[in-house]
Amino acid sequence: MKLLTVIGARPQFVKAAVVSRMIKDSTDIQELLIHTGQHYDQGMSDIFFQELNIPAPTVNLGIGSAGHGAQTGRMLEKIESILLAERPDGVLVYGDTNSTLAGALAAVKLQIPVAHVEAGLRSFNRRMPEEINRILTDHASDLLFAPTETAVKNLTAEGIADKKVHMTGDVMYDAALYFGRKAEKESSILKDVGIREKAYVLATVHRAENTDDPVRLETIFRALAQIAQRIPVVLPIHPRTRAILLRDPLLNSLASKLKLIDPVGYLDMVMLERNAVVIATDSGGVQKEAYFQRVPCVTLRDETEWTELVTTGWNTLAGAISTERIVTAVENALHGTVGEDVPLYGNGAAAERIVHILREHLS
Ligand code: UD1
Ligand code: UDP
Repeated sequence: MKLLTVIGARPQFVKAAVVSRMIKDSTDIQELLIHTGQHYDQGMSDIFFQELNIPAPTVNLGIGSAGHGAQTGRMLEKIESILLAERPDGVLVYGDTNSTLAGALAAVKLQIPVAHVEAGLRSFNRRMPEEINRILTDHASDLLFAPTETAVKNLTAEGIADKKVHMTGDVMYDAALYFGRKAEKESSILKDVGIREKAYVLATVHRAENTDDPVRLETIFRALAQIAQRIPVVLPIHPRTRAILLRDPLLNSLASKLKLIDPVGYLDMVMLERNAVVIATDSGGVQKEAYFQRVPCVTLRDETEWTELVTTGWNTLAGAISTERIVTAVENALHGTVGEDVPLYGNGAAAERIVHILREHLS
């Protein structure tokens, strides 16, 4: 079987790492890995291929940054020409970025089966570009790999046939288990940053709904600066957010109260997450990783796709409209609030299940 995988943004490298590892070990599947080039900085792309032993991309399309239409359109055209030349048995896409949608759309128009890892996630907020990407990708897909029961229910509610949907668990949990051991051995990030175990808050901020809204972004940075008066706040900063900080003297001065560092590789990130006392984030993946490490999370968004984290008490939705609400949520979490110890994302064998199902349906 010939499988063509489309990835391009940081979280997709982490997810693909565990699936591609399984495929590499099988003799009956040939994987062509297409990197769209949506993320291209060394610390946003290459480092993941190196640390997570992802096979080098067969092709890097080198698309880079652009507006949604231009970025997705350029990807679509290039992916289509590769699909026409290669005629794979299926196209595998991950998550909810513009690279995901471009891969799915290019394939479905050529009647090549699409398989979507992380299907069925919904925020029910259509202002998020990711929500549009997810919905369109799910409806273009033939195999939908849902990480949670909630995701399965969302797909059923949208009329997607049950036979297309497979509850596999979450590949990010597989990654946390597998690479977590490697991280423990290889990362020296705490020493490098000059912080101690369980004596700092870890934060990440990159969502368009926050970075593109000056009021929300200022609210977040005011809150983080206030928290930093009490406990160090470490923020590996996404280039999107860095670019905005550089242009804004107020944000810059608030950010100067934090321990701002460049984006880190996955192994360092796992160690930063594991040893944080609280994580404050607007990332989808980091919310779950907080729970994998049993660290309470405060989410800097108004809603989350990972609702089970909220209902089990691991995650507090603090939004980004009130500094006080964010600070209070972090303070409550600092007092040691922990959630229920229940398994939410499978047993660490999601990638294995996915490869098994791909083989069954596409061979
Ligand atoms: C994208 C995804 C988002 C995901 C995030 C993961 C879409 C619509 N959004 O958002 O769902 O959570 O990736 O990190 O696909 N930049 C660099 N260097 C890079 C990459 C980006 O400087 O290597 C800067 C550029 O200024 C660029 C901006 O970041 O314009 C945004 O990058 P883009 O890939 O468009 O979106 P993300 O915000 O990264
Ligand atoms: N991540 C990382 N280094 C960082 C920030 C995040 O390795 O400096 C990892 C994180 O551990 C998770 C993934 O990147 O596995 C999440 O990506 P991101 O927050 O960019 O996107 P989202 O999950 O919100 O789409």
